[in-house]
Amino acid sequence: MVTNSTIETLLNRRSIRKFVAEPFDDDTVATLETVAQHAASSQYLNDWSAVRVKDPALKRRMSEIGRQPYIAEAPLLYVFVADEHRNAIIAESKGVPTDSDTYGLAGSYRFSQAQNDAVLALHAMETAAYSLGLGCVILGSLLNDVPGLIEALHLPQYTYPVLGLAIGKPDQAPALKPRMPRELQFFDDVYPSDDDATESIKERIGAFDVSVHEYYDLRNTDRPVDAFSDQIASIAAQRMDATHQVIPNATSQGFRLDR
Ligand SMILES: Cc1cc2nc3c(=O)[nH]c(=O)nc-3n(C[C@H](O)[C@H](O)[C@H](O)COP(=O)(O)O)c2cc1C
Repeated sequence: MVTNSTIETLLNRRSIRKFVAEPFDDDTVATLETVAQHAASSQYLNDWSAVRVKDPALKRRMSEIGRQPYIAEAPLLYVFVADEHRNAIIAESKGVPTDSDTYGLAGSYRFSQAQNDAVLALHAMETAAYSLGLGCVILGSLLNDVPGLIEALHLPQYTYPVLGLAIGKPDQAPALKPRMPRELQFFDDVYPSDDDATESIKERIGAFDVSVHEYYDLRNTDRPVDAFSDQIASIAAQRMDATHQVIPNATSQGFRLDR
């Protein structure tokens, strides 16, 4: 492989869930936030925002929603939000009614592209943080209770929470988590879904299972993590509860996912 410092940073990225209790200086915060703003944005709509969660009581609430104690200890904590609220204000100020059937910013396409924008911004911030010697963990667990999160952060109509990002100086050095063979994730021209391809997944996943099972997660140091296929089977067998469900939650935020 060819390498440089950016590639080294990306290849050494691993989630960090324990941080040194040190506040951030303003310059670092400004740098991380400006980098996030420079990510690409679909149709240049800039349709994402991020809430800095600073109040310790609110951090504890985030940690309760996510059911992960380390969320409350994060020196810098963001919740990235798909945001068509600001654009609705701008559109209305230009005479575009948001209650019309042809209103374009609340439909399913913008909802999904705004989520993409938010993820790209978060990822830019994450990479910049690692390049500065910091560590991060992305927090999907905040979506355990979408209505609770919306209420806690006062998220208005036409916004929807996407992911949290906790950042700090690492106070742990976890091992790199293995990734599956590249051939299972990259294909030439078309997605291979014939019988041979199905058999190949089943055969090749065995060796990957072994390497994943050799990995020790610092969250449970007394035992190796389950084999990859066991992790998939266990998640596949779990039904998500209603607080996770996108359609009712997005509808109460004003989005029209049927459009
Ligand atoms: C969309 C997304 C949501 C995630 N949510 C959580 C989370 O809520 N809590 C957590 O501890 N890690 C979370 N992670 C981190 C993953 O568990 C982690 O990236 C994965 O196990 C691979 O490990 P690595 O990041 O150390 O390579 C999330 C990652 C992504 C991409």
